[in-house]
Amino acid sequence: MTEIESLKQELKKVNAEYAGIRNVPAEERAEFGRKINAKKQEILAKIVATEKKMLDTQVEPIDVTAFCAPNESIPEVYSQEYGSRHPLATEIDRVCEIYQMMGFDVVESRQLDDEYHMFDSLNFAKEHPARDGYDTFRTEEGLIPPAHTSTMQHRVLKEYRDKLAQGKNIAVVVPGRVYRNEDVDATHEHTFYQCEGVYVSRECNMGQMLGILREFFEKYYEQKLEIRTQPGYFPFTEPSLEFMIEKPKSLGGKKGDFLEMLGCGMIHPNVLKMAGIDPAEYHGFAWGGGMDRLVMLKYGLSDVRAFESGNLSFLRNFR
Ligand code: DAH
Repeated sequence: MTEIESLKQELKKVNAEYAGIRNVPAEERAEFGRKINAKKQEILAKIVATEKKMLDTQVEPIDVTAFCAPNESIPEVYSQEYGSRHPLATEIDRVCEIYQMMGFDVVESRQLDDEYHMFDSLNFAKEHPARDGYDTFRTEEGLIPPAHTSTMQHRVLKEYRDKLAQGKNIAVVVPGRVYRNEDVDATHEHTFYQCEGVYVSRECNMGQMLGILREFFEKYYEQKLEIRTQPGYFPFTEPSLEFMIEKPKSLGGKKGDFLEMLGCGMIHPNVLKMAGIDPAEYHGFAWGGGMDRLVMLKYGLSDVRAFESGNLSFLRNFR
């Protein structure tokens, strides 16, 4: 029996003794009561002191770094459901993997950039209305959460240009999150993902670019695809194209249903020059397109808002 248990038993005995006061002659009752009460107070004081001593000495500190025993059952209060990876994270990995198999390096984009990388280094003339087409957000300091992954082109060209001198090519893809001040609906999000491609060599041409893009889309959708292009306009490419694929039959597409997947073109000589690459010696092509739409098509999703919603019943479909 512990010290505290024996004290509590003593207390019980004293309480029982006190009940016997009925049998004590009236004139002795006061004295009897006083004695019992004194005993009781003494025991109570001992109990308080003992409990205090236990608290001071016996409480072990909790080791928050200890591993939990894996075989012990998990208490009911914790959810026993496992989470899942976000479908975009998985698909972005797949996109990079396909380009890596084709020999591209992967460089991540950034989430805050400046006017120079977002526009100037991409041959947007100062005050040119094309700048407004990007619906950019701006911080009070004038910084820009990038509205396209092209914001990385200048950095990639500068970082990799030594390869050209070594007789190698620049081949880089840049996945990244981008932001636009758009009204949100089923096909527009203010936050979405793009993937940029940059290729530079002594001799390269539009045909090679279209070959790379077709190869990418056929690998991604695991089927043969028809492609089509139409003229586009981007200040950083000349000529510029919009690249389309025929909507895959397996995904409900009919003959002649073409979907625009990305913008592309031959890198403008000014963009190469600004990055210290001589456009008389080297040529390049680049492309950039949304990844959300790529993934929506693959899984037949109709509402882009699902990706940023945190809706568990949506996310659980991708376990
Ligand atoms: N940055 C463009 C956009 O977001 C897409 C784009 C077009 C990227 C042409 C490129 C390119 O690299 O060459 O609309």
